[in-house]
Amino acid sequence: MTKNKTKFVCQECGYESAKWMGKCMSCQQWNTFVEETEIKEKKNQPTKGVTGGKPLTLSEISSFKEKRYDTGIEEFNRVLGGGIINGSLVLVGGDPGIGKSTLLMQVAALAALQNKSVLYVSGEESPSQLKIRAERLSLLDSNFRIMAETNMLVIKKWVDEIKPDLLIIDSIQTVYDPDISSTPGSVSQVKEATSQIMNITKVSDMATFIIGHVTKQGAIAGPRILEHMVDTVLYFEGDNSGSYRILRAVKNRFGSTNEIGVFEMRDYGLKEVTNPSELFIEGGDKDAYGTVITASIEGTRPLLVEIQALIGHSSFGQPRRVTTGVDSNRISMLMAVIEKKMGMQLQNYDAYVNVIGGLQLKETAVDLAVLCAIMSSYKESAFNSKTLIIGEVGLTGEIRGVSHIEKRINEGKKLGFKVAIVPKINLEVLSNTKGIKLIGVSNVSEVIKYLS
Ligand code: TYD
Ligand code: MG
Repeated sequence: MTKNKTKFVCQECGYESAKWMGKCMSCQQWNTFVEETEIKEKKNQPTKGVTGGKPLTLSEISSFKEKRYDTGIEEFNRVLGGGIINGSLVLVGGDPGIGKSTLLMQVAALAALQNKSVLYVSGEESPSQLKIRAERLSLLDSNFRIMAETNMLVIKKWVDEIKPDLLIIDSIQTVYDPDISSTPGSVSQVKEATSQIMNITKVSDMATFIIGHVTKQGAIAGPRILEHMVDTVLYFEGDNSGSYRILRAVKNRFGSTNEIGVFEMRDYGLKEVTNPSELFIEGGDKDAYGTVITASIEGTRPLLVEIQALIGHSSFGQPRRVTTGVDSNRISMLMAVIEKKMGMQLQNYDAYVNVIGGLQLKETAVDLAVLCAIMSSYKESAFNSKTLIIGEVGLTGEIRGVSHIEKRINEGKKLGFKVAIVPKINLEVLSNTKGIKLIGVSNVSEVIKYLS
């Protein structure tokens, strides 16, 4: 027998090297190399389900009619692009304790209710621990199957036997293939386990969800390679202290990646939040200065969000710019616009900008709201709490139009907003403006007069 060859693999990015290295040449991380056994490629064995290598024209390929089913959780369906697709492989990542196992156990139970056969494989908890969770979620009547197992061969055997419609692997880092000597959770094991799970998923009609842990850098632990292999990557996020959770698609072969689903962690499990706008703007002293409400589009859905800013004298030579939920470079740019175009001197002030509710805003349509929040805090004077502020800000201080203005305004109307400050150019396309007064602005210098 030939001796198994080994290689050194960076546990952060999957970079491979013949020699051990202190620092990874690819991702520049220190001390991440671990020796792993090389997996021998099985030669001359076409994978099952493939055409045996014969090239086909598009017309020869039988069309794949995607079969989706409703999970019963509207927020979850939306993120997946309209429900679970048979034969798809979905990776759910998130920090420990965020609620991944809870979410998927609820999904499993709801699928079982629709008479689907469901297998929940856990390598993290014992069956009795899983039962305690099911009890907490009031799912004891549910008839999905639970298996505490980490050996890939055993899992495959049972999947073959039960032929579930839905398979859940919690988590991919605990699963191992005994033929590979590397420890579970190492790059080789995670890669191999995922590719085996992918093979059993693709040849059947079964949908598979795999749970993955996240490293401190925010990537799914081990290699990014995992993200390339699966059809859909979902991240479950939110601050651990708060009870709100956001499920976000970062890759989706069967739907949009802009959608988010909002959940609340209760004592009895996750509850979907069907009207998140209310959630993100509720509470707090609305007439306080430094706070502004804007409408952002997340996927296909408008969301009202509150942006807060605090501008205070800096006691250090280098003023602080601290932001959560918005890009700090964008804040620096907006502060430069305020200084140059509105004559306010902010260079000796610390600036803190925060988006309420743990949301991450990527849209430039929230620029004007951020700028107004900063200005309001600096001037110690508030905007009317029933005013919505929308618009992109350019470097010359001009206010540029935004997409989906109608959707944003309608969401504001629904939640009782009486006034909206919008880009002047957008006014032309707005037809039904009953119930809300629209103020068109074309330059940042025009907004200051709306401060009370
Ligand atoms: P869990 O699903 O175990 O997280 P993950 O699998 O992502 O590590 O969720 C764990 C947290 O959720 C834990 O801190 C307790 C809390 N929790 C609730 O608040 N309510 C519940 O009904 C359940 C099951 C968990
Ligand atoms: Mg878990």
